Amino acid sequence: QNAEIASAGTANEQPTFVDVGIAARDLLPGRSKHVQVQDRQVAIFRTHAGALHALDHLCYHMGSPLASGDIEDIGGHACVICPWHKYVIALDTGEGFYKKIDPYAAKGSPPELCSKGVRQRVHHVRVGKGDKLEVALSISKEPLASDHYHQAFAQGMERMK
Ligand code: FES
Repeated sequence: QNAEIASAGTANEQPTFVDVGIAARDLLPGRSKHVQVQDRQVAIFRTHAGALHALDHLCYHMGSPLASGDIEDIGGHACVICPWHKYVIALDTGEGFYKKIDPYAAKGSPPELCSKGVRQRVHHVRVGKGDKLEVALSISKEPLASDHYHQAFAQGMERMK
């Protein structure tokens, strides 16, 4: 998070945290919540170890709601498993993971976990005053795959007004 803030450039571009109306104590380990922050759909996760993470809610693959996905520890990473096609996304970085099967590996050896790179936008989440969860949207200008579904959803909402 600090690297992103530093790379964003000017001091005017600090992320702004907003109260999302959820008490931190109500988000139990292994659970997630969907919230809207400005026009962005965000999923907040609490890992089984208790850490908080926030990602774009709509999966970078085909827009599935990630807050409905299971949280699992895979290869030492806390990940969400997309409920539609079971893509694996790291909660801390937004990387998409896949399991590489080596046909020449010794029988019974586990598949290697490989990264496709960052696909899902990660936002900032913290516990603010009064135990309220606060989210700040990513200020990174780097385009990511999950931006597509954010834009499609926001445009759809705009047309319904
Ligand atoms: Fe998430 Fe397909 S929509 S894996």
